Amino acid sequence: TRISSGLIDPDGGKLVELIVKESERDLKKAQVGNLPQIKLSKVDVEWVHVLSEGWASPLKGFMRESEFLQTLHFNSIRLDDGSLVNMSLPIVLAVDDAQKNLIAGSGSVGLLDSGGNPIAILNNIEIYKHNKEERIARTWGTTAPGLPYVEEAIKNSGNWLLGGDLEVIEPIKYHDGLDRFRLSPAELREEFTRRNADAVFAFQLRNPVHNGHALLMTDTRRRLLDMGYKNPVLLLHPLGGYTKADDVPLTWRMRQHEKVLEDGVLDPENTVVSIFPSPMHYAGPTEVQWHAKARINAGANFYIVGRDPAGMGHPLEKRDLYDADHGKKVLSMAPGLERLNILPFKVAAYDKTQGKMAFFDPSRAEDFIFISGTKMRTLAKNKESPPDGFMCPGGWKVLVDYYDSLSLS
Ligand code: ADX
Repeated sequence: TRISSGLIDPDGGKLVELIVKESERDLKKAQVGNLPQIKLSKVDVEWVHVLSEGWASPLKGFMRESEFLQTLHFNSIRLDDGSLVNMSLPIVLAVDDAQKNLIAGSGSVGLLDSGGNPIAILNNIEIYKHNKEERIARTWGTTAPGLPYVEEAIKNSGNWLLGGDLEVIEPIKYHDGLDRFRLSPAELREEFTRRNADAVFAFQLRNPVHNGHALLMTDTRRRLLDMGYKNPVLLLHPLGGYTKADDVPLTWRMRQHEKVLEDGVLDPENTVVSIFPSPMHYAGPTEVQWHAKARINAGANFYIVGRDPAGMGHPLEKRDLYDADHGKKVLSMAPGLERLNILPFKVAAYDKTQGKMAFFDPSRAEDFIFISGTKMRTLAKNKESPPDGFMCPGGWKVLVDYYDSLSLS
């Protein structure tokens, strides 16, 4: 059934929904008991979550080889009807030799969480080689040692990949007090429809919101109103899966985002705050396509992109891994994202002449200060304040408390 809400259609026409009916849960759980079983890592379970709710629609499970190759080589997947959908990150499940031997000859495999609880069944499986070097080189554009996701989730993983169709036994929950913010694409679509949104603009982030980020969001709203939209709704969409050790943890970021709304930096009236369950790759222009594509599935038809999205410092050299402008350039040209309106933004920095965050003007570069993540962390750790107008006081206080909590432990 197509969703006729006036929102942008999901990739492939309809959202895949891989969670089994409640009435079948017990049956499926029992079925796992009779299958060869694979225990998943935390990051694997996050991908099961992502797949289960249709963020990667029309993907129906962990990638088979043909999907994996199209992803690596084309950043997109060709559907049976000849159309293209964007897909830039491999969503794959690695298994080792022992696991491969265990499942040999079986058409289905039971998937367990790290506690040994059955969470899903993978059907019509396909096993193929996991060439890690090729995967890493093509996804990140480098095999330099020290890429966080590689260290965490690829380096020590098995040499085989296991693809297939997923049946997920029940919705994935984390019981961390934040599950109510984890709306699925279908639930977000309902929420946008309930709010009568005539445009939905998404903002992906993995950092605390400073007034430079806010400037991108408020400027977008103004532009959409100028274009004639009557009720544009902002999806403030912090990433909730794996992040690197020096990023601010999700619980603290959620507190910070709450303050940003309380302090009136963003308007709760036309903002939906929700958690995007994907793990983070830090793969720059390649990853930002995934970030954008997933938001189409959640009903967003506008996507904000600024400086160096999904970027990070080079693990070995003293420079950014990616060109800070490539993310927005690539996004505007990406195969399969033609339906999404990309809103590229210049870099925002602290303008000393105005005492606030503003778009950087290279003709008077000396008036601006760039407050990097590292600088922000150093300030908060030392309980120093950033310049007035950089971040709302309530939001800043949360960061100071976070770094305080680190030094106590
Ligand atoms: S990301 O990994 O989620 O992309 P981050 O949370 O830092 O990282 O950024 C969220 C969004 O804000 C991205 O679109 C990014 O390009 C944009 N952004 C971050 N900082 C700035 C800035 N100073 N000026 C303009 N855009 C920015």
